[in-house]
Amino acid sequence: MNPPRTDARRHHDPDVRGFASDNYAGAHPEVLAALAVANGGHQVAYGEDAYTENLQQVIRSHFGPTAEAFPVFNGTGANVVALQAVTDRWGAVICAESAHINVDEGGAPERVGGIKLLTVPTPDGKLTPELIDREAYGWDDEHRAMPQVVSLAQATELGTVYTPDEIRAICEHAHAHGMKVHVDGSRLANAAATLNVPLRTFTNAVGVDLLSLGGTKNGALFGEAVVVLDPDGIRRMKHLRKLSMQLASKMRFVSVQLEALLARDLWLRNARHANEMAQRLAEGVRAVHGVEILYPVQANAVFARLPHEVGERLRKRFRFYFWDEAAGDVRWMCSFDTTEDDVDTFVAALKEEMARWA
Ligand SMILES: Cc1ncc(COP(=O)(O)O)c(C=O)c1O
Repeated sequence: MNPPRTDARRHHDPDVRGFASDNYAGAHPEVLAALAVANGGHQVAYGEDAYTENLQQVIRSHFGPTAEAFPVFNGTGANVVALQAVTDRWGAVICAESAHINVDEGGAPERVGGIKLLTVPTPDGKLTPELIDREAYGWDDEHRAMPQVVSLAQATELGTVYTPDEIRAICEHAHAHGMKVHVDGSRLANAAATLNVPLRTFTNAVGVDLLSLGGTKNGALFGEAVVVLDPDGIRRMKHLRKLSMQLASKMRFVSVQLEALLARDLWLRNARHANEMAQRLAEGVRAVHGVEILYPVQANAVFARLPHEVGERLRKRFRFYFWDEAAGDVRWMCSFDTTEDDVDTFVAALKEEMARWA
């Protein structure tokens, strides 16, 4: 399936992997094969194609009969389109301070979506009804942006996972205040793999209104979807997607990737594997004296604190990011193609560097 390793167009070593991001991984071979199947001939552009139609069936098999998918190019786009669909011009979105929409989307929700974010500090990336209440007030106060949506990430930006009951409590609380609930599900598959339940168990079954469903980190080349779970009160998705520059003309190639992941069990296989590699990594790291794991490892990320100098030396050998450089905090991500050998080699290198430092 892979092209020969001597191919003159190959500009990287396909055997080298790091722990920087699940976005550093390539696409899963089954996704690439599905793209080839969808190629050839002509199909109607802008989403009226056979692959997008089929994707709707697949999405309904996961999320129930009212669900509708709107494929988009990327996760930031999914979030910006989804959040616009549930806010008025005067509306605001409550989210964790650490949320991707707040820290890693270049201000797109504010600048492109025109949405005020009301952020709440959290100990582990997870919102609770009590934390939401710090910003959920003042609906009649015209001096304040009106809280209309709670956006949570599943899995969170810090690699933690909400239980279905925790999401239910947030949805009940938000709905009681007339707010909708959006889930940034760029790693929804990883959360499902951890919880070992169907996707619907912690989304529409507990009251989530709409979500951004990830494909890229799960093995797609690119592509995500806004999934509207309860169409009641959700506005003009098609129009918002177009004006937000997220409408793919050759949409069949986005849809077929999501279909390849979700129609059978590829999404779950990939997510389970990434999570297992994170568990293996965490286990290895726990045995290294002087390195502290910062949050429960519940998806495919391990956050750790280690001496800054060790982090710097290790980064010369493997790719990964400092999360908070001053504190020495790092993030190590596993992906669908991380191998046991990658993890073991990395842990051995960490041990070596810690021993040099001690
Ligand atoms: C929680 C979360 N949401 C959304 C995204 C999507 O981002 P992008 O626009 O890079 O696809 C990411 C990517 O890192 C993420 O971690």
